[in-house]
Amino acid sequence: MEKQVPLRLLAPLDGEPWDIDGYRTRGGYEAWQQVVRDRNPDRVIEELKQSRLRGRGGAGFLTGLKWEKVVHHRTNERYFVCNAGEHEPGTFKDRYLVQHHPHQLIEGCLIAAFTVGAKASYIYLNAEFLDARASLEKAMDQARERGFLGKNVLGAGFDLELEVFEGHGSYVAGEETAMLESMEGRPAHPKQKPPFYPTDFGLRGKPTLVNNVETLSHVPHVLRHGAQWFTEVGVEKSPGTMLFSLSGAVNRPGVYELPLGTPLRHVIDECGGGVPHGRRVKAVFPGGPSFSMVGPDELDLQMDFDSLKKAGTGLGSAGVIVVDDATCMVAHTLALSTFFREESCGQCPPCRIGTERLEDLVATIEEGRGTRNDLDKLLQICGFVKGTGFCTLVTGASVLVHNSLRLFRHEYEDHIAGKGCPFNPTATESAVAVA
Ligand SMILES: Cc1cc2nc3c(=O)[nH]c(=O)nc-3n(C[C@H](O)[C@H](O)[C@H](O)COP(=O)(O)O)c2cc1C
Repeated sequence: MEKQVPLRLLAPLDGEPWDIDGYRTRGGYEAWQQVVRDRNPDRVIEELKQSRLRGRGGAGFLTGLKWEKVVHHRTNERYFVCNAGEHEPGTFKDRYLVQHHPHQLIEGCLIAAFTVGAKASYIYLNAEFLDARASLEKAMDQARERGFLGKNVLGAGFDLELEVFEGHGSYVAGEETAMLESMEGRPAHPKQKPPFYPTDFGLRGKPTLVNNVETLSHVPHVLRHGAQWFTEVGVEKSPGTMLFSLSGAVNRPGVYELPLGTPLRHVIDECGGGVPHGRRVKAVFPGGPSFSMVGPDELDLQMDFDSLKKAGTGLGSAGVIVVDDATCMVAHTLALSTFFREESCGQCPPCRIGTERLEDLVATIEEGRGTRNDLDKLLQICGFVKGTGFCTLVTGASVLVHNSLRLFRHEYEDHIAGKGCPFNPTATESAVAVA
């Protein structure tokens, strides 16, 4: 059993989540007060760089470096946006943080907005998260009453507002350039990167800091306790803790905070209580459906950005989806392929056409109308579309199918030979529904 590490982001609070006093008894808003007293953005950025905090929204980019890029632009017009879009199947940790630990996020947003000198600051919140929004708004009111937010912040002679921007729940709208487009009233279409990185060319064409909810929630802790403290857990290149959204075939799905580098087996067995109904692990998506699955012989993999990349998969935003051995992998792949097809914004032809063709072919095989030729076609399409498109959606769709075929080709062949699905549909349906 691994050493237990005290919770950082999910440390229990006294009282209701929006109650500012509960947060303050644990040192809440001390980092913000210090930042306002010091008025030294370089020092904040240096501490973040020392901490080696990496973004928790999927790409794992170094947070301090990103803030520095925004600050280095010689302009008085910069923006800050907290990304609380969260629309990927199997990822639900950001809405948990917003709802249950809103002050920690507000404090992180205030520090970020102040440090980059944002002219306006937004929390882009998925419109479906009604409970999270209610909790966040109550917490913002309290922070405003106490002078942490709003007019003449902490009597220091400047104003800082945070505005909740209602994001209209699509997966692609969580991609940062698409999100910024939608915030300006245009369709949520991603932009080509390079050159359109938000740090250089963001909201209204100006340098914009975009960070994930969880990334920002770490910031007050890093500043209050110091970079050294932050790096005491986790691994060299991925320090700190991370929230794992655990779903699928486990007894206890939920959000778990663990040090980066924790073995996948620990997440499934110790946190999730293992696989229900005496079944076994058949496959696991360690970083959501856009990254390759791993098999039951790979459960000792360490859950951090570099270890998973080295193993040919990725951590993403740590949405761990467990698939058990009663599940039909063709049906499972079909459900996720449908998700990708539905969520393609249609802007890039390889994505628009590719996600549709992949879904069609997998459906044909699942329904017992497939041929061996379809397997070759699937691989061919995967090869054509991978890496195309202005965002990674189509690559995710291609990796899913390619990886499913590589690990479970025999199941596709059984569907073709038997002209139908050999699995019990009820078992598969429940697995897919949870994912
Ligand atoms: C299709 C797609 C969807 C995404 N959805 C989200 C999201 O819901 N929330 C999020 O924080 N990042 C999302 N991202 C990643 C963002 O583009 C961006 O990298 C992130 O918000 C940066 O914050 P971080 O540096 O703190 O991780 C998505 C990326 C892609 C390609």
